[in-house]
Amino acid sequence: MSKGIFITGTGTDVGKTYVTGLIVKKLRSSDINAGYYKPALSGAEFVGGKLIPGDCKFVADIAGLPIPPQALTSYMYEPAVSPHLAAQIEHRPIEPDVILADFIKFSRQHDFITVEGCGGIVCPLRLDDKILMQTDIIKLLNLDLLIVSSAELGSINSAVLTVRYAESLGITVNGLILNNYDDTNFLHKDNRNSIQRITKLPVVACVACHAAHLDMETTALCNLYKEV
Ligand SMILES: Nc1ncnc2c1ncn2[C@@H]1O[C@H](COP(=O)(O)OP(=O)(O)O)[C@@H](O)[C@H]1O
Ligand SMILES: [Mg+2]
Repeated sequence: MSKGIFITGTGTDVGKTYVTGLIVKKLRSSDINAGYYKPALSGAEFVGGKLIPGDCKFVADIAGLPIPPQALTSYMYEPAVSPHLAAQIEHRPIEPDVILADFIKFSRQHDFITVEGCGGIVCPLRLDDKILMQTDIIKLLNLDLLIVSSAELGSINSAVLTVRYAESLGITVNGLILNNYDDTNFLHKDNRNSIQRITKLPVVACVACHAAHLDMETTALCNLYKEV
């Protein structure tokens, strides 16, 4: 039996990949067979003549995943735009069945599978003759959410909106992680408390700038995952 979780953020560049890398590293350093999956990725870059999915490479490197980064995603696009637009430009529409099949394959290979989304919670994967939103994929994979948020000014608004939007679609949010958190900063500390009070959800960890480890008990981390 495998367990999974979906990592989303309050926006692009908020630190989903960085935090996910620390999560998978933490699990693997506790001898847990933990894997990573990124359903779709835009903004892939050529390195040495090869198109490389940056998020997959970052997580594979930091967590020591013995799998080539290209094998960790179902859809990789070069344009650094929203996945729905990148897919239109490259004429390769995203098919939910492909993502579901790949997710099942990954979950059979690992005991804990961490799925990283694109952008924030409202992210279209397809806007052509069909509409496919990232939230449709979260529901299709039947995963709960862990939300990565910044700790800075404005985070109460973006964190609460993300939680409430997910909940309005019937998606369960298990908690939040505050990234680039400075525990000497009174605003960051207040944001942490305020977000917990308003959302009634736990901030399960705070990640400092350049943190090399996730400061959280492995058991508590594992308890956030749900059977898939
Ligand atoms: N805690 C952190 N310390 C140092 N750099 C970070 C931290 N979190 C994110 N970054 C950097 O910020 C940038 C955006 O983070 P990333 O994880 O790629 O965001 P997202 O996946 O949400 O788009 C990357 O260059 C990443 O290495
Ligand atoms: Mg990312």
